[in-house]
Amino acid sequence: MKHLPAQKAIDYLGRDHRPLIGADRPVALTGRHFDTLDPASGKVIASVWECGAEDIDVAVRAARAALDQRAWTGLTADARAKVLWRYGDLLEANAEELAHLEVLNNGMPIGFAQWMVSASAVWLRYYAGAISRIHGKTAGDAINEPGRAMHAYTTREPIGVVGLIVPWNGPIGTFIMKVAPALAAGCSCIVKPAENTPITALRLGEIALEAGVPPGVLNIVPGFGPVAGAALVSHPGVDKISFTGSTAVGKQIVQAAAGNLKRVTLELGGKSPCIVCDDADLELTIPSVAMGILANSGQVCFAGSRLYAHSKVFDKVVAGVADFAAKVTLGSGFDPGTALGPVISDKQRQRVNDYIDIGRSEGAEVIYSGSAPAGSGFFVAPTIFVNKKAGSRISREEIFGPVLVATPMDDMEEILRVANDTRYGLGAGVFTRDVSKAHKIAARLQSGNVWVNCYGTVHPTMPFGGYKESGWGREMSSEGLDAFLEMKSVFIQLH
Ligand code: NAI
Ligand code: MG
Repeated sequence: MKHLPAQKAIDYLGRDHRPLIGADRPVALTGRHFDTLDPASGKVIASVWECGAEDIDVAVRAARAALDQRAWTGLTADARAKVLWRYGDLLEANAEELAHLEVLNNGMPIGFAQWMVSASAVWLRYYAGAISRIHGKTAGDAINEPGRAMHAYTTREPIGVVGLIVPWNGPIGTFIMKVAPALAAGCSCIVKPAENTPITALRLGEIALEAGVPPGVLNIVPGFGPVAGAALVSHPGVDKISFTGSTAVGKQIVQAAAGNLKRVTLELGGKSPCIVCDDADLELTIPSVAMGILANSGQVCFAGSRLYAHSKVFDKVVAGVADFAAKVTLGSGFDPGTALGPVISDKQRQRVNDYIDIGRSEGAEVIYSGSAPAGSGFFVAPTIFVNKKAGSRISREEIFGPVLVATPMDDMEEILRVANDTRYGLGAGVFTRDVSKAHKIAARLQSGNVWVNCYGTVHPTMPFGGYKESGWGREMSSEGLDAFLEMKSVFIQLH
C-alpha cells in the first residue's frame, strides 16, 4: 500500500520558496521562479525563487559580514559543538518531514531518505566533536640553530567564505557532508543546491537557524548551475568552493576559480569496478554487486558499474544479479515495497536510455532488461550487459543509471590493468575469501575507496574522495575538516 506524504511535507511544499540570506527570506533579485518536480510523477510540486549573480553577491556579503563580526567563531568551541549537536537532534526530530520532502523532490525510496537523514545527524555529531580538536603543531628542536633559538608553531583558521555546490542525487546527505565540516572549521557557508532538488536544502537552512547557527553563517541560494553556481565560483569574495557533481563541471570550476585562486575541492564522477574472484562467497557477493549498481537507481558517484568476475563464477554471478534485479520493485518512493525509484529527470532518463541503445549498437549482449512502470514518472528499467569488447563506451563512460556492464576475466594482472584503465578512480569492490589476495588487490587499485566483501560503505571516520578525474581532496574524517582550514606558521625568535 502506498503511504502518502505527511501533511507537514505537503504544507511545506505550499510555502513561498525564497532564498535564505542572513536572517532574511528575500525574493530573488532576478524576479524569476523555476519549477521543481516530483520525478515519480513528472509533476510540478513547487515553484522556487531563482537566484542570479546579484543574489549571490548579496549572500557573499552576508556571509562575509558574519565572518568579520565573528558571529560564529566568536562563540566558544563548546558552544559551537552544542549547536552542531542540536542541528543533528533537530534533523532527527524533523526526520519524517525531511525524508518525505526528499522523496517528493528526488524520488528515492523512503527507506533510503530516512537513512540519509539519520546518517546526516551522525555526521553532524562527528564534526561537533571535532571542533574542540582543531589545533596546530609545534616545531621541534630542529628549528634551532647556533645562536638563534626559535619557538615555532602552526595554527588552523577557517578558510573564510565557502561556496558549497551540491548535487541532486543525495540532496540532504551531500548538503550535510559539506556543511558539517565547514561549520566545524568556522567558515561562513553559501549553499547552492541543485536546480532539480532545492526543497530540502531550504528546509535544512531553516533548521540550522533554529539550532543556533548565527544568521549569515549558512545561506541557501537556489538557482541554476551556469547562472547562480557560476557566479558563486567566480566571485572574488568567496575563498573556497566545495563541489559535488559531474567531472565536466568540475573542470569548469577549476578554471573559473583561478581569478582569486580560491581553494577547490571536487567530488566528481566514476566508473567503479567490482572484482569477483573465483573463491568469493557468492551469497554475499551477489546482493552487494546488485545493490552496488541498483541503489538510488544507479545515480551514485561510486556506483559499481563495471563487473569483472572470474569465468569459473561469472555465469552464476551474472545470473544472480539478474535474478536480484528482476525481484526489485520500481515505483514511487512512498511505496514501502519500492526498491528503485525514478531517475531525477526526463533528461537523465533519456541519457541512460541512450546509453542502453549505445550498448546494444556496440554489440554488447543484454543479459537482463527489466520493465519500467508506465506513466509520466521518470523510470528506467535495470539493464545488465555482458560485454567482451575492450574500449566500448558503456564500459568507459559514466552512465549514472541502473546499468551494469559485466565482463568475464581470469588473469588478475589483466583484471587490475582493465580496472585501472579509466580516467576515474572513486570506488572499487573486491570479493574474495582470501584475505591476502584482498590486501594485494586493494593496494593495486587506483581508487580513493576500496570495499572488500561489501560495497559503498561511507562513514565519517573515513576519508571519502577520488583519484584521477574523480576529484580533488577528500570529504569526511579529519581530512574533510582540514579542507575548510587554512594553516598558519608562526615563528618567534627568542632573545
Ligand atoms: P552537474 O554537474 O551539472 O550538476 C551538479 C551541480 O553543479 C548542481 O548544483 C548544478 O547546479 C551545479 N552546476 C552546474 N553547472 C555549473 C557551473 N557552470 N558552475 C557551478 N555550478 C554548476 O550535473 P548534471 O548536469 O545534473 O548531471 C549530469 C551528469 O553528471 C550525471 O549524469 C552524472 O554522470 C554526473 N553527476 C555526478 C554526481 C556525483 O555525485 N558525482 C552528481 C550529479 C551528477
Ligand atoms: Mg549539468
